[in-house]
Amino acid sequence: MFRQSVRRFATTTARRAVAPAAAHPPTPRSIAISKAQGISRGLTEAIGNTPLIRLNKLSDQTKCEVLGKAEFMNPGGSIKDRAAHYVVLDAEERGLLKPGGTVVEGTAGNTGIGLAHVCRSKGYKLVIYMPNTQSQGKIDLLRLLGAEVYPVPAVAFENPENYNHQARRHAERLTSGQGKGAAVWTNQFDNTANRRAHVETTGPEIWEQTAGKVDAFTCATGTAGTLAGITAYLKQVSEGRVKSFLADPRDRSCTRQLKDRSGSSITEGIGQGRITDNLAPEMESGSLDGSLNISDEKSIEMVYRCLDEEGLYLGASSALNVVAAKEVAEKMGPGHTVVTVLCDGAYRYADRLFSRKWLESKNLLGAIPKHLEKYIVLP
Ligand SMILES: Cc1ncc(COP(=O)(O)O)c(C=O)c1O
Repeated sequence: MFRQSVRRFATTTARRAVAPAAAHPPTPRSIAISKAQGISRGLTEAIGNTPLIRLNKLSDQTKCEVLGKAEFMNPGGSIKDRAAHYVVLDAEERGLLKPGGTVVEGTAGNTGIGLAHVCRSKGYKLVIYMPNTQSQGKIDLLRLLGAEVYPVPAVAFENPENYNHQARRHAERLTSGQGKGAAVWTNQFDNTANRRAHVETTGPEIWEQTAGKVDAFTCATGTAGTLAGITAYLKQVSEGRVKSFLADPRDRSCTRQLKDRSGSSITEGIGQGRITDNLAPEMESGSLDGSLNISDEKSIEMVYRCLDEEGLYLGASSALNVVAAKEVAEKMGPGHTVVTVLCDGAYRYADRLFSRKWLESKNLLGAIPKHLEKYIVLP
């Protein structure tokens, strides 16, 4: 299975051959070349090859190298551009999406934005189903990026009216009327093209950027494509040496209890209550080394700390990942290199994360250290 992934990686490499900065396999020199150099043939070739940023304060504090992959630098502004690109590529390769066809997905956030960019750049239509609990801002953004958006009642996954099932049925209706290739439900949760994006791009980039010196990786999960794909690659290439930890805003003592997730958190984009097909191989092989429970208090404090200490304007899931990386570094001890992903920026969440009223409503005002309260600039 891994060999197959490597073959696909090679195919992607050939596709990107005009962009020297993005070429693989890399030379030591290519690691230092910024993604801004070279020419990307269209938007999709500008996805990935993000910088790996040393979080200086946390690295000095832990005497480790704590590194964050700057996924907010992708064209759609998040790590989900990688998955969006891969699920569309996969549909094309399997003949499920013909020119001018329609992509249908159930998503409330970054995947929809990534898909909107990818679909526009390739001439596909995009239909998004989302729970009607989402903000008008998200609906407006997707619509202005060209998507047709259907907010539907927020019901559990088991209910046939759940937004994911409605998305599947929409694609089926189009296909049965217009034939194979007219539409595809990209199904980010259980479509393993999602994890493959990270097996073939994010994982190798981390390995190359650290010259193989990475000791541990950690991040939270939504579909789990990121955690599973990066874990699979790093475990394989390091022959099991690199450790991998699942971070989660909920209280879970063991990764095998994933099904028991419940409760709500401020960290948007993460927290899925079931083991997706993207995560299943890691759960079955027991390749995760443990899990960390990161409270909302720690995540929100890290949003403010990253801004103040590192100049990084991060969303709450990225801040949670940074807390997890710091805790893994502390656990492993000085001299280790710990990597995480900085999924997106705070831009889409600023009206909450920096609002006094919102912080109070979530009982999080007290989590902001006094010297950082100056960043609470919204009423
Ligand atoms: C901001 C943010 N962080 C983290 C994730 C989780 O990534 P994954 O779906 O690969 O687990 C998502 C997914 O949508 C996200 O939007």
